[in-house]
Amino acid sequence: MALRLGDAAPNFRAQTSDGEIDFHEYLGTGWGILFSHPADYTPVCTTELGKTALLAEEFAKRNTKVLAVSVDPLDKHEGWIKDINETQNTTVNFPLIADPDRQVATLYDMIHPNASATATVRSLFIIGPDKNIKLIITYPASTGRNFVEVLRVLDSLQLTANYSVATPADWKAGEDVIVVPAVSTEDAIKKFPKGVKVVKPYLRYTPQPNV
Ligand code: BEZ
Repeated sequence: MALRLGDAAPNFRAQTSDGEIDFHEYLGTGWGILFSHPADYTPVCTTELGKTALLAEEFAKRNTKVLAVSVDPLDKHEGWIKDINETQNTTVNFPLIADPDRQVATLYDMIHPNASATATVRSLFIIGPDKNIKLIITYPASTGRNFVEVLRVLDSLQLTANYSVATPADWKAGEDVIVVPAVSTEDAIKKFPKGVKVVKPYLRYTPQPNV
C-alpha cells in the first residue's frame, strides 16, 4: 500500500556509493530526504544531483541528510557520479543508493506503472527525527525538482514541529507565520510575545517565533 504522511518510514539496508548503509542508522537523530531518479546517465537527474550537492551546506544547516536512489547498480553509479561532478561543478557528497532489485523503489512506491513499468518517477520523501514521513512529493520523470522549494518546506516543517504555527502561501523563512486555529487569540497573545495581528478571528499572524 502507498505510504502516507505520518506513516513510519520503512527501514532498509542497501549498497550505496558511500558503502552499505542501514537507512535509519544513517539518518541518526536528524532529518532525512530520500529521493528517486528514473535512471543513471539521464540529463535531468544529472542536474538534480548536482544541485543537491551544491546545496550541501543548506541541508547541513537544517540537520538533514540526503540520500538519492536509482535502480541502476553501484558500478554504474560510480561512473555517473564522476560525470555529475564534472558537468555540474560540484562533488556529490551524499550516498546514491543502488537499487537493482527495486527493494527501496518498491518499499517507497516509487514505480508508477502508468508512467513506466521499470523506472521510478521523481519521488521525494522528507523524514523527521521520529522516522515518520513528513512530506511526499511526486514529479514526473520529465520535470526536475525545485530544491529551493524543498529547503523551504524543510524550514516550514522544522518550525511547525516546534511552535503552534503554520506557514502561509509562498512563505519563506523570516516572514510572518499563522497562528494555528487550535490556539485561542487570548492564548496566542501570551505564547507569541512578538505580537499577534488579528485579520479575522481565524486568520492571525505573528512574526516567526524562532528568529
Ligand atoms: C531524465 O533526464 O531523467 C529524463 C528526461 C526526460 C524524460 C525522462 C527522464
